[in-house]
Amino acid sequence: MAVQISPSILSADFARLAEEVAAVGNADWLHVDVMDNHFVPNLTLGLPVVESLLKATDTPIDCHLMIEDPDRWAPAYAEAGAGSVTIHAEAVKAPVRTLRQIRSAGARSGFALNPATPVEPYEDLLGEIDMLLLMTVEPGFGGQPFLDVVLPKVRRARSLIAAHGGQVWLQVDGGVSASTIERCAEAGADVFVAGNAVYGADDPARAVDHLRALAEK
Ligand code: DX5
Ligand code: ZN
Repeated sequence: MAVQISPSILSADFARLAEEVAAVGNADWLHVDVMDNHFVPNLTLGLPVVESLLKATDTPIDCHLMIEDPDRWAPAYAEAGAGSVTIHAEAVKAPVRTLRQIRSAGARSGFALNPATPVEPYEDLLGEIDMLLLMTVEPGFGGQPFLDVVLPKVRRARSLIAAHGGQVWLQVDGGVSASTIERCAEAGADVFVAGNAVYGADDPARAVDHLRALAEK
């Protein structure tokens, strides 16, 4: 699968979101971090902002739900028009039902694992998942250092995905930058979220192209 870059607007200026989104028109996705101050110790934005963003851009939206009750909320993000909706293994109560509801509302289904959550227990769910997200920081904040300790899990996830036909995209999120993206790609990731590395750069669009080129090497 071709490399895809998903800039995280968590590191953007929330007062100028439409401009910040337009600045990365060369990105494949726009990563939107929804946090509820319960699943993670931070509070960001919710459905109304996602609905407005959907009107403001043609770039598909990749919603990462770091919330306590994804069973209740995930289908609404898919119905609103998000291209991808990711729920956390540590929070979801009925993963098969919720992943199926995301798909039947027309979005790609995403399933996320925190750094210390193993991938093996979820092997049988791979048929329900369009994208597996492996967190490479503890979720909650942008700008944290990349956790190399997750890389062996990226490799194991890539092998499991290959054994199941190779359809599932493998996303990494957290501390992905020009100095860490090659390690992630080499381990088998193909979708890369980057917040600080994109919005902290003088030219966010150039940063997207640079990250893509490094991951494709
Ligand atoms: C962290 C979020 C990330 C965050 C990544 O919980 O899920 O998407 O924005 O930011 P960077 O790339 O700065 O680590
Ligand atoms: Zn995220």
